[in-house]
Amino acid sequence: MTKRIGAVVLAAGKGTRMQSDAPKVLKTLLDQPMLWYVERALGQVCGQDVLTVIGHRAGMVEAAFPELAGRFVHQTEQLGTGHALAVALPALTAAGLTHVLVVNGDAPLVTPESLGEFIAAAAAAAADVAFVTIDVPEAGAYGRVVRAADGVRIVEAKDFDAARHGPATGEINAGVYFLRLETVAPLLGKLSNDNKSGEYYITDLVALAGLAGLSVLAVNRGRDEAYLGINSPRELVAAEEIMRRRLVDAHLDAGVVIRAADSVRIGAEAVIAPGVELCGPLELYGACRIAAGTTVASHCLLRETVIGENVVIQAFSHLEKARVDAGCQVGPYARLRPGAVLEHDARVGNFVEMKKAVLGPGAKAGHLTYLGDAAIGAGVNIGAGTITCNYDGVHKHRTVIGEGAFIGSNTALVAPVTIGRQALVGAGSVITSDVPDGMLALGRGRQVIKPRS
Ligand code: UD1
Ligand code: CA
Repeated sequence: MTKRIGAVVLAAGKGTRMQSDAPKVLKTLLDQPMLWYVERALGQVCGQDVLTVIGHRAGMVEAAFPELAGRFVHQTEQLGTGHALAVALPALTAAGLTHVLVVNGDAPLVTPESLGEFIAAAAAAAADVAFVTIDVPEAGAYGRVVRAADGVRIVEAKDFDAARHGPATGEINAGVYFLRLETVAPLLGKLSNDNKSGEYYITDLVALAGLAGLSVLAVNRGRDEAYLGINSPRELVAAEEIMRRRLVDAHLDAGVVIRAADSVRIGAEAVIAPGVELCGPLELYGACRIAAGTTVASHCLLRETVIGENVVIQAFSHLEKARVDAGCQVGPYARLRPGAVLEHDARVGNFVEMKKAVLGPGAKAGHLTYLGDAAIGAGVNIGAGTITCNYDGVHKHRTVIGEGAFIGSNTALVAPVTIGRQALVGAGSVITSDVPDGMLALGRGRQVIKPRS
């Protein structure tokens, strides 16, 4: 019979030790929920045949992963990891799977390579039940692997008793299992919750399989960090640090110059060209893309932002869902909010904020400016202190500025308003009506000079 391998992610638990009401699997590492990493790794191993068991605040998990719709299984009461697998069993059988890889949802460091090797080892041994073990300095809350003359089994931390089970060896259960459904499914009904937690443990399948004369394989991965589980805030940030280092190292190896690398945080989806220079402290999250020749200075935060070639982003700039084309200069202290677009060679200086605004090629906004809901043509000069007054308290309105226009300092552009091409707006103006092409507009009180007193 040909093998058909699927996977189950156990993600229904509350994560009590995390001391947060949100589902644990939504806690983030480098701005991505831990479940995202597990799903990505399993997707590479099992394609679409991945089911995810959810329960505690299931709606939040579903909302965070719309791409997994139709592949969730609900465990309405969280009666333990063995129960969670049992809940998924009908869907696994219906999918025609022969083998299932089960992974705890709180193990985001797992890699497809490591999982692939584990499956290969299990397959080579024709194991009915295989599971991954690692060696840790402190077994803590992990399930202990007990290897005895009559076989191997897993004893949960709460139930472990050195007098009965022998001295702790530091070998623990990683929470990753490979099961042959035909032989193992019947054992699920035999799980008992007669233990310190009153839960049905998936880990008891190991001893049950041994008793039933099935083939059991414990695959030891030494100190492999890929299998660390996350239960507490301390473990969350420790795993995040491992992930951070992995990603920074991969970019360094690929030719990105990363200075002060210990304080650089790059999310898993970033695409950065070789030769780009980054300097920490720096945060780059989500699907950021940075093209060759670009430099990002320290203390910047970039989220889902696309940056072209030969751009200079100076220190303390925040860019979110923005696009910065080739040759632009940004910052220091610039803030580009969603929908901000800088076309090639545009410049934005200190304390300039942009939102849903396009700055045309070569246009400049050097200082202290807010540009919201605006289309600004090529070569426009926006003077210091210019504000697009885009909001009347109810609706947002657009400002359009034609190419080559010059907006004097401290101008308020009260939208909706259009400034024509090559028009000139005098400093300190409040512009409430459209300015035709090439015209000069002044909208300010006239200066008077009088004797003092
Ligand atoms: C589990 C293992 C332990 C192992 C460790 C590795 C059991 C009984 N113990 O312990 O041997 O060393 O993982 O990290 O499995 N979950 C459900 N439904 C439930 C209960 C849990 O889906 O009813 C999910 C959780 O969301 C979590 C995963 O299963 O993602 C593991 O549960 P958790 O409570 O974290 O188990 P550990 O105590 O860490
Ligand atoms: Ca855990």
